[in-house]
Amino acid sequence: MTSRSTLEREPAGAPGASSTPGTQPGPEASRLPDAQGRPRGSRPPKAPRWRTAAVIGASSGIGAALASRLAAQGTRVALVARRGELLDARVAELEERFGGGRARAYAHDVRNIGEIPELFGRIEDDLGPLELIVYAAGVMPRIGWEDYDSAADRDTLEINLVGAVAWLNEAADRFRRRSGGTIVGIGSVAGDRGRGGNPAYAASKAGLANYLESLRHRLLYDGVRVVTVKPGFVDTPMTAGLPGLRGVVSADRAAELILRAAARGRAVAYVPERWRWVSLVVRAIPSRLLARLRI
Ligand SMILES: NC(=O)c1ccc[n+]([C@@H]2O[C@H](COP(=O)([O-])OP(=O)(O)OC[C@H]3O[C@@H](n4cnc5c(N)ncnc54)[C@H](OP(=O)(O)O)[C@@H]3O)[C@@H](O)[C@H]2O)c1
Repeated sequence: MTSRSTLEREPAGAPGASSTPGTQPGPEASRLPDAQGRPRGSRPPKAPRWRTAAVIGASSGIGAALASRLAAQGTRVALVARRGELLDARVAELEERFGGGRARAYAHDVRNIGEIPELFGRIEDDLGPLELIVYAAGVMPRIGWEDYDSAADRDTLEINLVGAVAWLNEAADRFRRRSGGTIVGIGSVAGDRGRGGNPAYAASKAGLANYLESLRHRLLYDGVRVVTVKPGFVDTPMTAGLPGLRGVVSADRAAELILRAAARGRAVAYVPERWRWVSLVVRAIPSRLLARLRI
């Protein structure tokens, strides 16, 4: 088996990776931009932290931005979501920017949990054993304060929580058997308290945070990292047109912070970090008062 350090020195398909080990670019070459148009520094290009990754919910928003950042750093990425045509278009764009073999599309609805073991296996056959999985799939139906729509709530729980458990259980079992891997679940600050505005969404994210913490405890001695990410407001189709959002960050900035937290193996990462303090305050508000705030 190839050792990790060997692959880190010479990753297959890493952007700008030297084809001859040990070859240094001359002084002229170092002043020219690289294949991606970035100015060259004196340091050799970094190897990707993860050689392979899967992003579940990669057709738009945070998941699409994550897939793009991973492909840019040389990771081979599986993009999973329902909208196959959109995924194909994203894969074509990534391959054009970063080279062939960098990304693959897999159309899948996370509510079909019976498909997951076979699909996981197919992704690993295509890309190699996964080193990172990010569960970013999610929905947040717009519901009114007077709405009690059990069909919509069921969808929310199935996509945000049940699908996450099914995908990440599969990842956990495979990763622990090979003593390595990073599991990332995208929760939300909305899961830190009960929310009258969207009870099923808040419950799905609270459930996900609890599941991820439990998984982290289970895998403590198995060499597998489990990272809970709690974004604040991110500019994506999910939040488009919502009034009164403060401190919104771009999907690309959120992806950058999420990958940084994953690389550091953080247990719980607020994105951006300031939401940790907001959440601390919100969690300290007595329930009776929180109810009157109608959030
Ligand atoms: N935006 C925010 O402010 C914010 C804040 C906190 C947390 N989050 C969380 O961040 C995650 C990403 O959200 P986003 O803001 O990037 O929203 P988004 O742009 O709407 O992306 C949601 C992704 O989930 C996928 N998805 C939804 N239902 C699916 C299903 N049944 N099967 C497979 N994939 C499915 C969508 O793909 P298809 O429709 O193609 O299936 C899409 O790729 C979500 O979990 C969300 O709750 C977002």
